[in-house]
Amino acid sequence: MYLIKTLMGDITKVTDVQAIVNAANNSLLGGGGVDGAIHRAAGPELLAECRTLHGCETGEAKITKAYNLPCDYVIHTVGPIWNGGRNREEELLANCYFNSMKLAMDNGIRSIAFPSISTGVYSFPVELAAKIAVHTVNRFLQGTPDSFDLVEWVLFDTHTESVYEAEVDQLYKMI
Ligand code: APR
Repeated sequence: MYLIKTLMGDITKVTDVQAIVNAANNSLLGGGGVDGAIHRAAGPELLAECRTLHGCETGEAKITKAYNLPCDYVIHTVGPIWNGGRNREEELLANCYFNSMKLAMDNGIRSIAFPSISTGVYSFPVELAAKIAVHTVNRFLQGTPDSFDLVEWVLFDTHTESVYEAEVDQLYKMI
C-alpha cells in the first residue's frame, strides 16, 4: 500500500525520497522559483547534464542525476502557463504529473516528491492545480499496483500546503 502526503518545506532538503520533481521551463536551463533552488542546491553539474537534454515540451518530463541534492534523481517537468484555462492548461498539468510518475516508475523509483507545479510564476490557480495533481497521481497509483511506496508534495507556503492537504484528506475519505 502506498502513502500520499503533504508537508511544508524546501524540496531541495527532503531526504525521504529517491526523486524530486522540478517545475522547470521548456529550456531546462534553470530559472527562478523551485527551478532556481534545485539548480543552486544541486550544483553546476545539473545544468551541464540538462544541456544534453535539449529542452522539454510542456507536459513532458525528463530525468537527470541529483548531484549535490540529498536524493538520487531529479525529474524535470514543464507545467503550463495559466491563460484562463483556454489552452488545454488542465490537461497539460495532468500530463506533467502522469509523465513524471511514469518516468519514475520506468527508472525503478518508488518514492517521489513534487512541488506545486505551475502555481508560482506560471500563475495556475492553486485550488484547481491541487485537484488535478492529487487526482492524477492517485489514478496513476491505482492503475499500477505496488509501483510506489511514497508520493509527497513539498509545499512552500501555508496556504498552498492547506489546499493540497485538503485534497489529500478528501482522497483518504474516499478510499
Ligand atoms: N521548495 C518547494 N517549493 C518551492 C520552492 C522550494 N525550494 N521554491 C518555490 N517553491 C514553490 C512556489 O512557492 C510555488 O508554490 O513552487 C511552486 C511553483 O512555483 P515556481 O517555482 O514559480 O514554478 P512554476 O509556477 O511552475 O513556474 C515555472 O518559473 O522558476 C521558473 O524556470 C522556471 O520558468 C519556470 C517557471
